[in-house]
Amino acid sequence: MNSSDRDQRSSAQIARVLAEIARLLESPDNQDERLHCVLKAVGELVPYQSCALLIERSDEATLLAMPEPAANSRPALQSSLWRLLHAMKGNGETVSSSIEANRLVLPVIAADRVIGLLRVEGGEAYELEDVQLLSAVASQLGTYLTMVDLTAREREARKEAERLHSLLADKAKHLEELVQERTGELRASIAELESFAYSLSHDMRAPLRAIQSFSQAVMEDYGKDIPPTGIDYLKKMVSASARMDRLIQEVLAFSRLSRQQITLQPIDVEKLLREIIQERPEFQTAQVDIEIQSPLLSVLGHDASLTQCITNLLSNAVKFVNRGVKPRVRIWSEAMPPADGPPMRWVRLWFEDNGIGIDKEAQRRLFGLFQRLHPDTEYQGIGIGLAIVRKAVERMGGSVGVESERGKGSRFWIQLQGAES
Ligand SMILES: Nc1ncnc2c1ncn2[C@@H]1O[C@H](COP(=O)(O)OP(=O)(O)OP(=O)(O)O)[C@@H](O)[C@H]1O
Ligand SMILES: [Mg+2]
Repeated sequence: MNSSDRDQRSSAQIARVLAEIARLLESPDNQDERLHCVLKAVGELVPYQSCALLIERSDEATLLAMPEPAANSRPALQSSLWRLLHAMKGNGETVSSSIEANRLVLPVIAADRVIGLLRVEGGEAYELEDVQLLSAVASQLGTYLTMVDLTAREREARKEAERLHSLLADKAKHLEELVQERTGELRASIAELESFAYSLSHDMRAPLRAIQSFSQAVMEDYGKDIPPTGIDYLKKMVSASARMDRLIQEVLAFSRLSRQQITLQPIDVEKLLREIIQERPEFQTAQVDIEIQSPLLSVLGHDASLTQCITNLLSNAVKFVNRGVKPRVRIWSEAMPPADGPPMRWVRLWFEDNGIGIDKEAQRRLFGLFQRLHPDTEYQGIGIGLAIVRKAVERMGGSVGVESERGKGSRFWIQLQGAES
């Protein structure tokens, strides 16, 4: 490089060329074209006879050179720069440049990593200012290549995220289909079982009635020839088959509950409750004190199902008291805040009694079929009342529960959607 060239290199020109390099790096051309243009522009800052840029991209070297070297000398140039690049990398943090009289080789650093080399070779010896200018270009290239790398990684990450997203969506769809398929199968087999139980229970009633009526006939027609013990056995047969008949009827009612279609509508609970109390002799004031804490909130329910629930809960409240104690029942309602899901208001109806109470461990299973805690000799029943309450309430979209302690009375509750939400 001769001194007249250097004299012409004013600071304005330096600034212009560096700005031009920055612009070139941001141009829309493809990456190698941009870098070729940059190498050409370098010549205006640091005049050279040849200029080369070696970049390491995923363990491969890319060589760009100005002017393009002869095909047979290109591999030698590439491998000598590659060796130098790795020698520089081996130096760890202190990355040195290679400066000879007429040849400068500077590292291109991206994100603290040497990822390339920029080399110029001139006819004359270079000076300190040439080193500084070439360093400025190498640093611009480093920033640019960092950006390219980041963009490529971001693109890859986005692609990976999209891939995972669509994989997840596929899996979710598949799962949903599977759930639907299984639910369908389950529904079908439940329906089949229910209809089997229904027809079985139904068919069992005819022979049962035959046992009842023939036992009755034997007693009427041949009673005088049968000793008292025999008559007693026959009576036991009649009463046992009557009990079995009642059991079957209840099972049929229970099974009907799940087969029947129900539509929910607003129900004035207080009105319904007063009607139920009026209709049943065992709920009259002579037998039991029933206190209703007015007003009771209305619910969305199914009239017949709710009637059944209230009747069963009241019957239990009246039944399970110690001998000689007059049953006292208190009924009130409570608006419940929505737990999660849609903001609908729930209404909880409470039935509190002064009865014998229920052990904590037994409370959970009470709502299952035939779960009786007391022998029939003490309190009569089949053990289906609470199972019907639970099934009916669940069919109306609600839930049931109990709070109790042995000897301290019980509080049963049913929770349904409020009619005024
Ligand atoms: N209010 C209550 N106080 C104490 N125990 C209760 C009360 N309600 C129910 N139970 C217990 O829960 C069991 C199940 O109640 P459920 O109403 O299902 O059956 P049941 O009353 O015995 O018979 P059914 O109602 O079919 O005539 C009862 O046998 C009893 O042991
Ligand atoms: Mg009962």
